[in-house]
Amino acid sequence: MTGLTSSRKLDHLHLCARTDVAFGDSGFSEVRLVHNAVPECSASDIDIRTEFLGRKLSAPIFIAAMTGGHPDTAEVNKNLAAAAEHFNIPMGVGSQRAALENPDLRDSFTVVREAAPNAFLAGNISAVQLRDHGLEWADRAVEMIDADALCIHLNFLQEMIQVEGDRSAVGILDTIRNAASELKVPVIVKETGSGLSKEAASALFDAGADALDVGGFGGPSWAKIEKARASDKAHQNLGDTFLEWGIPTAVSVFEVAQVRKGPVIATGGLKNGLDAAKAIALGADLAGMALTLLPSALEGKDALFERIETICGELKTAMFLTGATNISELANVRYYLTGTVSEMTNK
Ligand SMILES: Cc1cc2nc3c(=O)[nH]c(=O)nc-3n(C[C@H](O)[C@H](O)[C@H](O)COP(=O)(O)O)c2cc1C
Repeated sequence: MTGLTSSRKLDHLHLCARTDVAFGDSGFSEVRLVHNAVPECSASDIDIRTEFLGRKLSAPIFIAAMTGGHPDTAEVNKNLAAAAEHFNIPMGVGSQRAALENPDLRDSFTVVREAAPNAFLAGNISAVQLRDHGLEWADRAVEMIDADALCIHLNFLQEMIQVEGDRSAVGILDTIRNAASELKVPVIVKETGSGLSKEAASALFDAGADALDVGGFGGPSWAKIEKARASDKAHQNLGDTFLEWGIPTAVSVFEVAQVRKGPVIATGGLKNGLDAAKAIALGADLAGMALTLLPSALEGKDALFERIETICGELKTAMFLTGATNISELANVRYYLTGTVSEMTNK
């Protein structure tokens, strides 16, 4: 018996793998890093190592939360974890709710720690579930994969369009405050496609979040995904109406960086290492990716390793061409903003 939560996770994975679930513009096409015609460094000297929540990483790439919770998701999680271990980059597992409800489903998560004994792994639970079930769920989620951090996700757009969604956000900041003060591991609060404004980011940092993932607009659209899953007209229409909802990732990173009290992760529509470089120049510490890694993660370990090599190569190329030899220098390179991103940031 897998249950509703579990089969929903499999639905999501299949929909994302087989159909075009992305929607909208993350804004990175309107960010241009300033070309340095005389970079005075050698491409072979570019150093992409960095640090995140006290951990040394070999690249500023975060494998963002996607899956687990159904037996058929174990293989893809194993491939993602093997990549996290091989490249010494962090990985977040998908929502652990299904396995918290039904411990028989733990294997699709525990496989991650088995394949990545040394990698930085983040557990995942929704803020609503944490509020409703209490800290015991968070402790169990952390213990399940021996997590180095816990991602608490916010997904109210999805909840509104999902037929079976949770529609109360009352008490969420208190829930995060409590988790941040009581849990043994750092708390990363993440949006999942609608982005964080500077006001929301401030409130979350003030509530004790150790890091934030902006989860901006321009990647997989939960309005589109839940519309495809909905069988009734009312929810399908709601999905349509709110297709454009959200803060483009580039704008969200720019805003959150202004109020930062901890590391910032950029996810939402990053497609390659150049987008990663732009995100870091805008103020992110790590560039997170989910959907763009999914096809190769489903194909197998070799394909995924090759994809991540390519992304790191693109990041290094962008750094060389801006004259940034390390990630701190990349964070300070000059950029131009055009179009909507320029208008939304007043810059
Ligand atoms: C198939 C799929 C499942 C996801 N499941 C979760 C989840 O369970 N928990 C979560 O916090 N985010 C989840 N996400 C959101 C991602 O972690 C990420 O924030 C978002 O997809 C934006 O990044 P991207 O554009 O690189 O995909 C999921 C994304 C995908 C594509």
